Amino acid sequence: MKDEEKPIGVLDSGIGGISVLRELISLLPYERFYYFGDSAHAPYGTKTAEEVRNLTAAIVNDFLKKGVKAIVIACNTATSVAADYLRKKYVNLPIIGIEPALKPAVMQNNGGSIIVMATPMTLREKKFADLMECYGSEVEIISMPCDKLVSFVEAGIMNGPCLQAYLEEKFAPFRDRKIDAVVLGCTHYPFLKESIQETAGKQVAIIDGSLGTAREVKRQLEAANLLNRNPGKGGIEISNSLNSEKIRCLSWKLLLNKSNIYLKKELFPYKIEYK
Ligand code: DGL
Repeated sequence: MKDEEKPIGVLDSGIGGISVLRELISLLPYERFYYFGDSAHAPYGTKTAEEVRNLTAAIVNDFLKKGVKAIVIACNTATSVAADYLRKKYVNLPIIGIEPALKPAVMQNNGGSIIVMATPMTLREKKFADLMECYGSEVEIISMPCDKLVSFVEAGIMNGPCLQAYLEEKFAPFRDRKIDAVVLGCTHYPFLKESIQETAGKQVAIIDGSLGTAREVKRQLEAANLLNRNPGKGGIEISNSLNSEKIRCLSWKLLLNKSNIYLKKELFPYKIEYK
């Protein structure tokens, strides 16, 4: 197999990274994607950095055995503790990680504050401190650690009174501020976008980094001469450490539900395998 025809490994602590996968398949329709969700160990955000680094490294190791040409860490939490470590270990492998999209939020800022919703680990790690140093002097940035939101998504709860009550509690301390934007610093949160928008208010921009990450994947594949330009080779394989029918169905539902707004049916070039 030619190098450019090899698959791309996409990983997350669970089903959240599917919000990145849907942008990837839209932007890179000729690529073959292996998606692995580690739902058996979710949430990552409340574990130790070492635990998350080890879990992430084990998934990358499995991907390498399957012959991937690049890795996408579709998890802000895993990126913050494992991306640099893995890049040092596999120097020739493109490893692209997602991080909170503070830059676009600051660029379109209108004088109000920006809230960053993310896991406790993402918000306390150095990567986020670096982002704050870069952009925090220009505008007020409020960190909002949300330790429970990942579990809502993993359970398939994207709306409803319990979720709404949790969000209300999180936003309550900031009701007297003018909020311009909410950055979704966890790949599970785009699936809660409507509930978050309702709580934050209609006028608030909700920003996530999945499209930016997909663009970066494309850029790095092009630079490494690894972009597959042959139609008909695209495909998606989804697996999950939980290995339950429920999580498999939810994964495909999230991917296809949300993808049909990006993909015209007649252009859908994927051989989707139900594995
Ligand atoms: N989707 C992961 C992220 O982007 C969630 C991590 C977790 O499982 O806590 O951070």
